[in-house]
Amino acid sequence: MLIRKPADLRYSDVTPKQLYINRRRFLAAGSAIAGAWALPTPAGATMKLNNVVKSAYKVDEKITPREDITTYNNYYEFGTQKEDPAHYANTLRPSPWQVQVGGLVNKPKTYDLDSVMKIAPLEERIYRHRCVEAWSIVVPWIGFPLAALLKDVEPNAKAKYVAFQTLYDPKQMPLGNRAGIELPYVEGLRLDEAMHPLALLAVGLYGETLPNQNGAPIRLVVPWKYGFKSIKSIIKITLTDKQPPTTWNISSAREYGFYSNVNPAVDHPRWSQASERRLGELFKKKTLMFNGYPEVAGLYSGMDLRKNY
Ligand code: MTE
Repeated sequence: MLIRKPADLRYSDVTPKQLYINRRRFLAAGSAIAGAWALPTPAGATMKLNNVVKSAYKVDEKITPREDITTYNNYYEFGTQKEDPAHYANTLRPSPWQVQVGGLVNKPKTYDLDSVMKIAPLEERIYRHRCVEAWSIVVPWIGFPLAALLKDVEPNAKAKYVAFQTLYDPKQMPLGNRAGIELPYVEGLRLDEAMHPLALLAVGLYGETLPNQNGAPIRLVVPWKYGFKSIKSIIKITLTDKQPPTTWNISSAREYGFYSNVNPAVDHPRWSQASERRLGELFKKKTLMFNGYPEVAGLYSGMDLRKNY
């Protein structure tokens, strides 16, 4: 995504992941402990999540191995190479944590993790996840609909957009000053996109709390959009009447639009978006419109998706 030097012009080539993936396994410390959020979490450790219900939202495709999902990441606050976040995100302290939700709402609220987890039952949802760099994975997320959180704070009639912000603490993220993007990382959705039942706030994957490198303790997952919309380690959600700024659009507006819907017919200026490489598979597969989630098409009826990329 970030291209600063000619030597970096290799993202789109998508070198076979075997060359990149560090086979380091993450052993879940204290994996049998219930009520994980209430306890101080050792940095980098994950814990089993209880009372997770299976959801009908699941794609019938091979789930990407946990090891791959957790060692091939984009989390620029912890380095710009794919293997960096798995090495360096252990300095993030995901507990205690608060998410401040406010702006154009009737009931602004600051949630700690215990209270945010009580908003709706936790579901396991198996989603496709398509990065703008033309690789993809299938992830068994655990989370709850973003809509449930938004309804809890009651957006008022003026609210049209939802803005999200990641923590930026240079002490916990000492590599942040080398990220090459403006921090804190920010993202946004139109309110109707945010209310779509597919939009998920994830707190775990593979049955456990999120590893730091995947955005602990709470991150967004918008499966019909390129992965960079799925902002990690959220501390602030603000309802607004104006389209909020987004990190990659600030970095390069020509390359990264506000909408960023997965669209095989609209190429990135520097590479094709027609196909993708599923991590762990040899042959490329065709990329599907809206990443194979056609139920969101109604959100964009009448819009030129070439202009609104
Ligand atoms: N969120 C923050 N705060 N910082 C980031 O660098 N990278 C984005 C997104 N969210 C990013 C972020 C990109 S480019 C992608 S593809 C996904 O996170 C990757 O999520 P994953 O590492 O869980 O696969």
